Amino acid sequence: MAKINTCVFISGKGTNLKRLILNSNQYSFPIKIKLIVCNNKNVEGLKLAKKWSIPYLIFCNKQNLSENKILIELKTKKINLILLAGYMKILSRKFIRSFGKSIINIHPSLLPKFKGLNTFEKVLKNKEKKTGCTVHFVTEKLDEGKIILKKFFYIDKKDNVASIKRKTQNLEYNAFSEAIIKIMK
Ligand code: GRF
Repeated sequence: MAKINTCVFISGKGTNLKRLILNSNQYSFPIKIKLIVCNNKNVEGLKLAKKWSIPYLIFCNKQNLSENKILIELKTKKINLILLAGYMKILSRKFIRSFGKSIINIHPSLLPKFKGLNTFEKVLKNKEKKTGCTVHFVTEKLDEGKIILKKFFYIDKKDNVASIKRKTQNLEYNAFSEAIIKIMK
């Protein structure tokens, strides 16, 4: 099956990346991960790139320089889809426009609620009844692009930041892959 050449951006542990790699190794899953981009050379997620022999790019320079370098690499590798899997930097408008193809992000709240950082703390503080994750297209406005899908769970009285984080991330793993399949249909 023809798979779409994909680049995954990470900043941390890479647990979402791990699920994406495992799924992309399945014949019927529609993406091939050709490149991993990471903005921190010390994170655990990079070990996955090495383990699965996926080319990777680490950058820590000034944003413009780094983004230009990435754009060249994306073109060379004929990347048609970018997945932001726990990527903690904001992509510039210039980068988003220059890439010109789909960029998808996973966010740990039910958007439009709780954009930005510290979502689990905000969920608890606002005494939400439910929370979850959202997969959406990336636009120039933070956490605002068209929503592809959301998954949620009901918050228990005993829940705290750690348990909400764990439950949200468990939903994220399926949500990301389901969203990819959904947009390919
Ligand atoms: C995820 O919870 C994602 O929603 C958030 O960062 C976390 C990344 O985790 N933006 P990991 O690096 O995939 O383990």
